[in-house]
Amino acid sequence: MDKKYGQIAEMTHFLIEASYSGKKDLKFIDLTCGNGYDTLFLSNLAGPSGKVTAFDIQETAIERTKSLLQNKGKFNNYVIIKDSHEFIGKYLTEKIDAAVFNLGYLLQHNKEIYTKPDTTICSLNSLIPYLKDSGRIYIAAYTAHDKGCEIAKISEYLNSFNKKEYNVIHIKIINKENTPPELFIIEKNA
Ligand SMILES: C[S@@+](CC[C@H](N)C(=O)[O-])C[C@H]1O[C@@H](n2cnc3c(N)ncnc32)[C@H](O)[C@@H]1O
Repeated sequence: MDKKYGQIAEMTHFLIEASYSGKKDLKFIDLTCGNGYDTLFLSNLAGPSGKVTAFDIQETAIERTKSLLQNKGKFNNYVIIKDSHEFIGKYLTEKIDAAVFNLGYLLQHNKEIYTKPDTTICSLNSLIPYLKDSGRIYIAAYTAHDKGCEIAKISEYLNSFNKKEYNVIHIKIINKENTPPELFIIEKNA
């Protein structure tokens, strides 16, 4: 089925698929596995020679992701870790093709537990040195849970990136009032 650009998660999958489909030995990271949809997508795209490492701080998210991949996953190419993504540096051993953040809170669960700008930025700082030259980081960010605080801080942080070394792309829907999500993409300008 055609993916809708107006659904930020669908657009993220569309862009990742367009860039990495058919490549071997793909290394993906899902920094916020939640209900597991992004991890499932990345696992199926990575194929048997690829690897996906997924993180979340909530046991419910870990269980939902494991269950989704056990039922719908095509490959045994993933590891799901219960830890905060701010500690991603402990787990990184090789360069990565793409990393995905889907910020905010876990749907159909506790809305009081959500991503925080300082830990997101800390995790971005650890990830950047591990990006392949063709690597990208995709960040879907929301405004409703914290009145736009996280988007504002991430935007400020990304604005400081060296323009010769990185392209930072910002995609937002401009004709909706109900605080639609926004997508940031960081890619190396190599
Ligand atoms: C919008 S949901 C993610 C949706 C998910 N990618 C999917 O496809 O269903 C955001 C998730 O971020 C998780 N989260 C919040 N803070 C985190 C942190 N410091 N490290 C890792 N995960 C975190 C929440 O527990 C929640 O499950």
